[in-house]
Amino acid sequence: AQTVTRTESGSVSVGGIDVATLAEEFGTPAYFVDETDFRARARAWRTAFGHDADVFYAGKAFLSRAVVRWLDEEGLNLDVCSGGELATALSAGMPAERIAFHGNNKSVAEITQAVEVGVGRIVLDSFQEIVRVAHIAQSLGKRQRVQIRVTVGVEAHTHEFIATAHEDQKFGIALADGQAAEAVRRALTLDGLELIGIHSHIGSQIFDMAGFEVAARRVVSLLAQIRDEHGVELPEIDLGGGLGIAYTSDDDPREPHEIAKALGEIVTRECEAARLRTPRISVEPGRAIVGPTAFTLYEVGTVKPLEGLRTYVSVDGGMSDNIRTALYDAEYSVALVSRTSEAEPMLVRVVGKHCESGDIVVKDAFLPSDLAPGDLIAVPATGAYCRSMASNYNHALRPPVVAVRDGEARVIVRRETEEDLLRLDVG
Ligand code: LLP
Repeated sequence: AQTVTRTESGSVSVGGIDVATLAEEFGTPAYFVDETDFRARARAWRTAFGHDADVFYAGKAFLSRAVVRWLDEEGLNLDVCSGGELATALSAGMPAERIAFHGNNKSVAEITQAVEVGVGRIVLDSFQEIVRVAHIAQSLGKRQRVQIRVTVGVEAHTHEFIATAHEDQKFGIALADGQAAEAVRRALTLDGLELIGIHSHIGSQIFDMAGFEVAARRVVSLLAQIRDEHGVELPEIDLGGGLGIAYTSDDDPREPHEIAKALGEIVTRECEAARLRTPRISVEPGRAIVGPTAFTLYEVGTVKPLEGLRTYVSVDGGMSDNIRTALYDAEYSVALVSRTSEAEPMLVRVVGKHCESGDIVVKDAFLPSDLAPGDLIAVPATGAYCRSMASNYNHALRPPVVAVRDGEARVIVRRETEEDLLRLDVG
């Protein structure tokens, strides 16, 4: 986060508040999100893309009512992928027409709700869903604005992409074998649908723009094919999310204005070549907005040196508040934040308190060798896909999210209690 500083005494302060004060007031583990930083990043995306484009924040990265309000105020739209995310968005007052509804298996109830409230677009993910949404819209006497999600044959991996002719995964409709063109043909014939564009999302935590450029080219060439076949120029394309952030100092993320420029240029160039009107572009960053804005604060419980190997540092959370290390072998850094230390660094593995050895928060890191129970350590860049993927494994109570701004801290998602857990237990 941008407003993190180390004070003279050696402890870290965020948004003007000392971490020890935060720990005392809100407990640990806890996520602290820097509201000023979040808003600045959201605004940077909005400004970079300008008035001819839309930015849909991907709510799956982290969503709460406070976040919805920040996005609304900063002029961003919202991508939701479940009835739960939609309910959160609506309850915080996000206008339905600024919401995009995603998912490869939306239920009839979810589609019905989305159509009834009037979401701005539903992104169709399969042939069956094209018919399903059309029927639901028609039975409600509505015409739903939709995009069709296509798989462009670019498989994006973490630091690279490889082109594949046929993607072996569950999302979207392949461009290959004319399938996407067939999907468009069907969508255009159905009264319940207003087809407004084509959608592509190639993956997540991507640094290389090349994958997006290939995707943009292929989507534009589908637009040209649609124009040639049906005489319609679809007005929008969405190039999804997926821009990577720096989890460690090895990562070198692209800035929103670079991304906007690269995508804008390629779409304009391809459209000129195909004599198409340039469509309105939208993107769906999640991680790139919220990821860097938050950190998790833990208290060290035990420090266990294993001779000749490493020292295991156990904290009061773990895979229930950050599953990403266990699930994706994700890399994080860690820092001692409650004091400074002149002690030699030691190789540590930061682990949680859960009942399995895969319960790792930070796989390899260095912390001062005088680390002791009661020290506070922080793991940065946990704003995306940590609270949103948190679980109650071992009946852990999910940590709160605390927003810090201008020297003030307030809970935006409270800590779970044992009553919360027991409330679901019947009998
Ligand atoms: N749009 C669509 C259609 C998506 O499926 C996603 C992410 C996004 C946008 C936002 O992607 P982002 O900008 O946040 O990379 N749990 C994983 C990430 C899963 C991403 C799923 N879709 C993780 O923790 O890395």
